[in-house]
Amino acid sequence: MEPLPEPRDLKSVWRMDKWLPELLRNRGGHAERWQGFHPALLAEAIERRNVNWPRMVSRYLRGRDVLDVGCGRSLYSVGFWFAGVKSYTGVDPVLDLDSSLLKDSRPLHGRFTESPWSPRTLERLLPQTRFVRGLTSDLPAGSTFDVLAMHNVTEHLMAIGESFAEFATLIKPGGRIVFRHPNYYSWGGHHMKPRTLGEIIPGDSGQANYIDWGHLIPRPDWPDKITKKQNRIRLGELRELVEKHFVVELWQEERSKKSEGAERLTPEIVQRHPGFSAAELLTQSVICVARRP
Ligand SMILES: C[S@@+](CC[C@H](N)C(=O)[O-])C[C@H]1O[C@@H](n2cnc3c(N)ncnc32)[C@H](O)[C@@H]1O
Repeated sequence: MEPLPEPRDLKSVWRMDKWLPELLRNRGGHAERWQGFHPALLAEAIERRNVNWPRMVSRYLRGRDVLDVGCGRSLYSVGFWFAGVKSYTGVDPVLDLDSSLLKDSRPLHGRFTESPWSPRTLERLLPQTRFVRGLTSDLPAGSTFDVLAMHNVTEHLMAIGESFAEFATLIKPGGRIVFRHPNYYSWGGHHMKPRTLGEIIPGDSGQANYIDWGHLIPRPDWPDKITKKQNRIRLGELRELVEKHFVVELWQEERSKKSEGAERLTPEIVQRHPGFSAAELLTQSVICVARRP
């Protein structure tokens, strides 16, 4: 085993110590004997926050063939592997199989940073792992999976009705769709700045359009990032759509935290947006698990 790289983020090393027994258990306790086991790879995946989501839903993933739709340029495959999947397929049009530039959401890092691993290296290192550059329609005809997972993708599906109909055909009967959906109607749901209190620039006229639920009022000068890249689906509509194809087993609405604007909602703001409940405006995201009948 190679030694850990210099810990850039001490939390990841702490989490690795804390999580390792659980992560190894997901793999039957034998991962450390697997010749590709690479603590640095796991540490980097933890640092880049690509382990948390698969770990959270690991009970639905363990021993299953999993399709990760919209996997992005990331180390999520490592998180999924340590969640105990039988096989992992990541699909995304932005994939570059030979590039080791990965998305980096850590504070004080660039949007994409170099890593030692490209998707092609990961295919070699992680058993039963493969990547497909493209859309789900580019998967080999007849491909089916036990689980279709999506993390922060549903809000970007511009023809979400058609996408869900297609997803249903990719999941084996009795299989599941498992996704996290960020709510556009939360304080920072516009994906513009400020998404957190820490990003507020007092007096910034650009931010003034979005801040404190201003993004619920359509404007002619909205950027493509809002009009073309986000479907702005309401939570009720999303649930209805899921129920059209699946049986919902879990619908967990996560409240925004203080740092995500939770304490900035006032009765005046709620009044300004008839048709929205305070609860909907304070829902940061939804985690949904649904079964294909
Ligand atoms: C916000 S990113 C999320 C990436 C990753 N899942 C994460 O949580 O970091 C959304 C990703 O979904 C991908 N995407 C959007 N529509 C897609 C589709 N129809 N099929 C596959 N990927 C899609 C985009 O290319 C983008 O990489």
